[in-house]
Amino acid sequence: MTKESNLIDKLRDETIADLIAVLEESLRSKETDVSLPLIRPSFGPDEVLESIDSLLSTYLTMGKKVKRFESEFAGYLGAKHAIMVNSGSSANLLAMHIIGNHLAEDRVAPGDEVIVPAASWSTSVFPIVDIGAVPVLVDSDPHTFNLDLACLESAITGKTRAIMALHLLGNPCKLDALREIADEHGLYLIEDCCEAHGAEYKGRKVGVWGDIGTFSFFFSHHISTIEGGMVVTNSGEFAELARCMRAHGWIRDMEKRKSIAEQYPGLDSRFLFYSRGFNLRPTEIQGAFGIHQLKKLDSFVEARRENAEYWLRELAPLKERIIFQDEQEYGKHVWFGFPIVVNGTRQTRDDLVTELEKKRIATRPILAGNMANQPAMRFLPHRVSGNLTTADRLQQSGFFIGNHQAITHRERDHFAACLSTFFA
Ligand SMILES: Cc1ncc(COP(=O)(O)O)c(C=O)c1O
Repeated sequence: MTKESNLIDKLRDETIADLIAVLEESLRSKETDVSLPLIRPSFGPDEVLESIDSLLSTYLTMGKKVKRFESEFAGYLGAKHAIMVNSGSSANLLAMHIIGNHLAEDRVAPGDEVIVPAASWSTSVFPIVDIGAVPVLVDSDPHTFNLDLACLESAITGKTRAIMALHLLGNPCKLDALREIADEHGLYLIEDCCEAHGAEYKGRKVGVWGDIGTFSFFFSHHISTIEGGMVVTNSGEFAELARCMRAHGWIRDMEKRKSIAEQYPGLDSRFLFYSRGFNLRPTEIQGAFGIHQLKKLDSFVEARRENAEYWLRELAPLKERIIFQDEQEYGKHVWFGFPIVVNGTRQTRDDLVTELEKKRIATRPILAGNMANQPAMRFLPHRVSGNLTTADRLQQSGFFIGNHQAITHRERDHFAACLSTFFA
């Protein structure tokens, strides 16, 4: 609970104890047998009580708790600014509208190109189209499953203005090389870190290497605000645009609101719309969750890394049958999930997935697979650069299982045993 409020303290102690007992029972009921769901709830009494505190105070929409979470999240990453929104997709939307904004000093204009890995997520690609730019889909590296740097370089043309990189399943991209390519060609670098909370490259957190970083706090992610997202940047100009466009395009949350208002004395400064905008605001409940989840992030990351190391060790004898995702040199992988690419036919992958699901191990495709194969792309302008062999392979032969802080040793063994039996 925040120090400012003592509303919860006013409740009778027994009431709180009762509430916590109910919550703990709900959490326990999800852990009764050996199974590997995509995620188990990562919140507990702290998040629930902090949310109740907001409800009781009647202050529910974006306020103090969101501000506190933004400031602590920025501090955790080493970023100058963090602007919370209602989802990771909204964070990507905002990132694109920042670099495409008429007010940005050097905007990405309609018809310009933005390079993005084909093996990515729908809402990593769609916001590029939303600003009138053209997504250029490139292939990924077959070992790290991240944007292939040679493919990236050969996709750059006179029209290229930005790179939308993505740390796939938490594996950090080679960020020094990406930054160098971006700088050499005068491109914006956006990092989609929606699956990479706490990941590092050369000891520095992902999200602060690019001009803008984006995060998702959806329920299945490393930390969760139920739904939620964050835009981070070191640019004061971009942060101002984010604050403006997050809430209707009005100036209320901007640092320079006073000086803008002075330029338009005939308009009510409370309803002065300075840029195009949306309503992507988070609630105080989301801020309340974020404050407490962030304290747990490092321990969640360690648990995920330990699970992944265990599976890589146990499953090493299957190296001929399975391709694992390689941790990038100098990178700290945070294993959003544990991906497997089957070295065989698509049928083998499908049979394995069916077998695992039967054994109560939840599986998911590797994001959207190859975005070029998704039917939505029929209606969206885009360009494919080179071949997309790895993206196709990830789609046809790959999948991932959930990897999270609450997996037990028995459950880790269960997955390893299922795989070994299948390939035997
Ligand atoms: C890489 C990536 N980008 C963006 C998103 C969108 O985040 P959200 O679900 O919070 O909108 C996701 C969602 O899982 C994702 O994995």
